[in-house]
Amino acid sequence: MILILNSSPRKKGVTSTLLRIIADEARSAGAEVEWVDVNSLSIRPCIGCLKCRPDKVCILPRDDAHRIGELLAGCSGLVVGAPTYWGNMPGPLKLLFDRNVPTLEHYELYTWRFPKPKHKGKKAAIVTASLSPFPFNELPSQGRGTLRAVRIVLKAAGFDIRAQINVPMTPDPAHIGERWLAKARKLGRGIGSW
Ligand SMILES: Cc1cc2nc3c(=O)[nH]c(=O)nc-3n(C[C@H](O)[C@H](O)[C@H](O)COP(=O)(O)O)c2cc1C
Repeated sequence: MILILNSSPRKKGVTSTLLRIIADEARSAGAEVEWVDVNSLSIRPCIGCLKCRPDKVCILPRDDAHRIGELLAGCSGLVVGAPTYWGNMPGPLKLLFDRNVPTLEHYELYTWRFPKPKHKGKKAAIVTASLSPFPFNELPSQGRGTLRAVRIVLKAAGFDIRAQINVPMTPDPAHIGERWLAKARKLGRGIGSW
């Protein structure tokens, strides 16, 4: 199953539109796709207790962070859509990742060894959109910063990042450039063989 995490609240925005194209193409190529709107999830913020290291599970009362963690564990590939907010990912997506340390990494008890990634061998892709015109979307404080922030999490989890889409200023999603639409279609088709 390919998990798509859409963290744009705009159902018809740039990120959602590109993710929909990716999902449709992937389904046509034979992939099973599960779509999650991260902004509709109910997730308490991480309290930083670090109990998830020894306990291997977040000790907070069960909420959508646990549920999506189970989807992550069962996925064979992941696509993360994150519009650029302050050169970074939107808050609800960060909350989801913060609460999922134990489903993303494995910590050995009482050692100083680096944690082990739990998703080695799985492929992933990241999509971002911002209002910065090219080439400013490539600045670390703009779209590139969002890609980097998501990449830190996915790499720690062991995902092999196969594609990154960084769409510059597109105020009207009806006018997303053909270059980006083609990239999304190609990525979706490729996901069929992930
Ligand atoms: C809270 C917030 C912060 C933003 N920060 C940035 C930014 O740092 N750089 C930028 O170019 N655009 C920024 N934007 C604009 C969004 O990236 C832009 O509207 C994007 O197209 C939204 O993607 P979507 O259509 O997929 O929701 C911000 C928007 C919001 C709501």
